[in-house]
Amino acid sequence: MIMELSRSFYTNMKRNHRQQIKWQQAQALFEALKCRDADTAMHSLVTGYTSVQLLIHLRFQGAFLQHMRIDDVYLGGLLHDIGKLSMGDDILKSDKKLDQSQRDELEGHVAEGVGILRKLGMEKDIVDLCLYHHERADGSGYPAGRMEVPAIGRLAAVADVYAAMKVPRAYQDMERSDADIMGYFYSNHEQYDLTIIDALAEVVKQLAQNGGKSGNIGEVHDEKGARR
Ligand SMILES: [Fe+2]
Repeated sequence: MIMELSRSFYTNMKRNHRQQIKWQQAQALFEALKCRDADTAMHSLVTGYTSVQLLIHLRFQGAFLQHMRIDDVYLGGLLHDIGKLSMGDDILKSDKKLDQSQRDELEGHVAEGVGILRKLGMEKDIVDLCLYHHERADGSGYPAGRMEVPAIGRLAAVADVYAAMKVPRAYQDMERSDADIMGYFYSNHEQYDLTIIDALAEVVKQLAQNGGKSGNIGEVHDEKGARR
């Protein structure tokens, strides 16, 4: 369900923004990622879609993130793992436990991704979503292990982990239930932002109630109102 929604969201967003150079660049990068590893591409689609849904819910509640542009948050989610293009298949597609040097290379995907996005002149929120998506509020994340994670990073962390649990991968062949996923987040809330976890619970509930048809999608289809 979330995968079909995420695919159609991408189709609509790229159609609505097809005239913009930034979107043409993003689409080229994403298509390259899709060729390289379909699982990572699917994960990225779900991360982008979930990031936008979280942003919309948080704004609706007046929580924060009011200044962020929906299209930048979406592109950040879509491209947050673009640095994985640089990784060898033995790491990218591995279903085995990684040794330390492989782990170091894996963690390097953040710096690689940030470098690519900066070279293309992507907006700060897009770059920051990539830069901070593996940081954690208790300092246990990477690459910096910082405890002061900007809002865009706290949003990215929740969206990325949710997507990782929803999209089957080589090392995880089953989609986890929503109850299981929310249980994970509330049990490990010190790593995340509780307000964003609550927003995810609302997104998940709304998706279940609507049978997979998110009422928020139409809100971002109007290209003219970029800052919504
Ligand atoms: Fe990542």
